[in-house]
Amino acid sequence: MANIIDGKKISQEIKDELKAEVEGIKSRGEKVPCLAVIQVGNDPASTVYVSNKKKACEYIGIGSKSFELKEETTQDELLNLIDDLNNDDEVTGILVQLPVPKHIDEDLIIRRIDPKKDVDGFHPMSVGALLIGEKGFLSCTPAGVIQLLKRSGVEIAGKDCVVIGRSNIVGKPMSVLLLRENGTVTICHSKTKDLKEVCKRADILVVAIGKPKMIDASYIKEGAVVIDVGIHRMENGKLCGDVDYESAEKQASFITPVPGGVGPMTIAMLMKNCVEATKLF
Ligand code: GUN
Repeated sequence: MANIIDGKKISQEIKDELKAEVEGIKSRGEKVPCLAVIQVGNDPASTVYVSNKKKACEYIGIGSKSFELKEETTQDELLNLIDDLNNDDEVTGILVQLPVPKHIDEDLIIRRIDPKKDVDGFHPMSVGALLIGEKGFLSCTPAGVIQLLKRSGVEIAGKDCVVIGRSNIVGKPMSVLLLRENGTVTICHSKTKDLKEVCKRADILVVAIGKPKMIDASYIKEGAVVIDVGIHRMENGKLCGDVDYESAEKQASFITPVPGGVGPMTIAMLMKNCVEATKLF
């Protein structure tokens, strides 16, 4: 039976550390971080995420400004709002909840956010800085995975790390962060030959494949650490990940559950980026 990596507990620890840091910032009279959150339309999942982000700001004691725009908002209107927030000295971080409606070009929106306020870490400047080891905002989910590993006492240096998935938001930054921690990294994707064989070499397996319960024990080396980035709602209403948990936990030494694994870490790391925004550049 694997040890469970408790993302809820670890994310709470991080939020409490940040809360103490913000108290320090306030007591010294320094600039208090403030996150602007923009949601276009009313996708129910986005509404839940946005509400959780605002609650997290409140918890750690930083400001937040909320912009709930109607579905029909034009791209120019959204770009103008981003420009205003880029120029607003009170706002230290800007987040546009994704996905945006189809008539809006997501890449254009991401590129319009001032990299100094890009707390999601999605801007090409942030991604490029990560790649060459310069200071910049880290993409929240992969940064959260590194924290889960470190705070669970999992050594990354020298380990064979396999990442399944090559998205800009998870797979690619995840691979670079593991490399930065001196892991030996392999990235797998839909064209990978013999996925199972590659996965079975992993000491640390990070799964961000987007297919419910696809990775079972037959993909996992005995004693491997398994991190499940996926989240899906099953027909019975329950949540599951990309990993078949019941099967995988018999092979793994450490495993993240879904829910309560990687998910809560994304918001904790967003809050970390928000607090760092005032001192990063
Ligand atoms: N939609 C789903 N996850 C995220 C995220 O981490 N940031 C933003 N901006 N949108 C999302």
